[in-house]
Amino acid sequence: MRVLVTGGAGFIGSHAVDLLRAQGDEVLVIDDLSSGDFGWIPDDILVRADVRAEEAVHAVEAFAPECMVLLAAQMSVSISMREPLLDADVNVVGLVTMIEAGLRAGCRRFVGASSGGTIYGDVPEERQPIEECAPRAPLSFYGITKSIMVDYLETYARERDVETVALAFGNVYGPRQNPHGEAGVIAIFAERLTKGLPGTINGDGLTTRDYVYVDDVARAIERSTRQGRGLVNIGTGVGTSVLDIYRLVRSAAGHPNLDPLHGPPLPGEVRAVALDPDRARTMLDWRPRVKLEPGIAEVVRWVATHESTA
Ligand SMILES: NC(=O)c1ccc[n+]([C@@H]2O[C@H](COP(=O)([O-])OP(=O)(O)OC[C@H]3O[C@@H](n4cnc5c(N)ncnc54)[C@H](O)[C@@H]3O)[C@@H](O)[C@H]2O)c1
Repeated sequence: MRVLVTGGAGFIGSHAVDLLRAQGDEVLVIDDLSSGDFGWIPDDILVRADVRAEEAVHAVEAFAPECMVLLAAQMSVSISMREPLLDADVNVVGLVTMIEAGLRAGCRRFVGASSGGTIYGDVPEERQPIEECAPRAPLSFYGITKSIMVDYLETYARERDVETVALAFGNVYGPRQNPHGEAGVIAIFAERLTKGLPGTINGDGLTTRDYVYVDDVARAIERSTRQGRGLVNIGTGVGTSVLDIYRLVRSAAGHPNLDPLHGPPLPGEVRAVALDPDRARTMLDWRPRVKLEPGIAEVVRWVATHESTA
């Protein structure tokens, strides 16, 4: 199958591209390399272009994908809070530009990367793990654009008679994650702790997130290129606090007594997230395979053996 992946040169995208190619799919990546060029994607399948640009539109039309995986995004909550216009431009205008180009090229299936950690907002304890039928009430501009993605995909499915899936990822972690961004607390802690330096916990450390390993996420993307419809959570159903993540990373890094530093809480952050993975099980035949401790050990190993590019 011909699969076009926007944002495919990034952390999640490059793992998904590796898996799709290993399955025999013909893959083209559109990525402006704004997060950096890490060389994970061979040049001959990469079009370096902004998803809002003509060049990207032409690349979609020329490739005529059977499925599009839409991962390109401004993905920082705090940038979205400072620059909501930029966030909306990339995440909404960029998304619709790519879908429209895909439709003109005859594409019948679209898979989008939404965000289970932000679209549902603050959900009370008794409604965790969160099901897809929960009301969407994002607290950040990024959460709004990721929630709008769900609405766009559902409306395109209804109005243009195409198949669409919106995957609501938990906090994805694993090798290749940028330890210098604001997302990816496991990579950030691993980068510090493998050097024997303390990490910084923003807020009280008691906020919980659903951490899901990147190979599991890549498998969910690959499944969605062939089956499933609608909004589907990709998580484990279990929330883990930042404090517990810190403890696990410091043990894996061999510094079990190194205490964290503390910083102010980040704006637009929700308190608790655990995502019910039941729909993913029935719709995509997907369940998370990698447990947190071995997953964290893998990240620590990767960070320790790769020179960081700050
Ligand atoms: N990492 C997570 O925990 C997580 C959680 C929920 C949702 N997501 C979503 O998954 C997707 C991939 O995230 P990631 O963690 O791999 O991030 P990433 O930053 O590694 O990947 C995003 C890629 O998109 C590219 N990009 C950004 N703006 C672009 C533009 N205007 N035109 C073309 N390319 C552009 C970047 O260069 C990068 O390669 C994003 O849509 C993100 O919102 C990620």
